[in-house]
Amino acid sequence: MSKLDPLIVAQLDALLTDEHNPVTIMSNASAALNAAMSDLNWCGFYLYSDATKTLDLGPFQGQIACTHIQPGSGVVGTSYAQNRSLIVPNVHEFAGHIACDAASNSEVVVPLQVADQVVGVLDIDSPSLDRFSEADQAILIEAAAVIAKHLDVQALATVY
Ligand code: SME
Repeated sequence: MSKLDPLIVAQLDALLTDEHNPVTIMSNASAALNAAMSDLNWCGFYLYSDATKTLDLGPFQGQIACTHIQPGSGVVGTSYAQNRSLIVPNVHEFAGHIACDAASNSEVVVPLQVADQVVGVLDIDSPSLDRFSEADQAILIEAAAVIAKHLDVQALATVY
């Protein structure tokens, strides 16, 4: 398995500089992460919506996905509700895992925190078991922090 190059963090920062539209930011961020990592089948965002009270599907790369996830449900909802990143080496052993894409076998999630508010989750899936290392996770936590730095709560609220 190839390692995620830590340079992705600076690349994301440069890519997102001077962008203000949250859809634009997350679209290119998901594309950049998807291109930087091998062996993925899904890479994207779920954003909490005050209107639906769920995590709504955001910009992503991959197959059609579940559109709404309850906070506390599945890997994404758990990460959001607990404000912590999780590596799931085998999604079939995670109680409550939501199988959006039958190809997924392992998953890593990182909450997105803008100021002191958790606004959503970065979710990355692989068809391989145990695809994501702690080194990958540490870089993805930094990547999520950089993406969040470019997001604005008020701009997000106009979309989600
Ligand atoms: N597997 C996730 C759902 C989202 S998809 O993987 C895109 C979960 O259990 O929350």
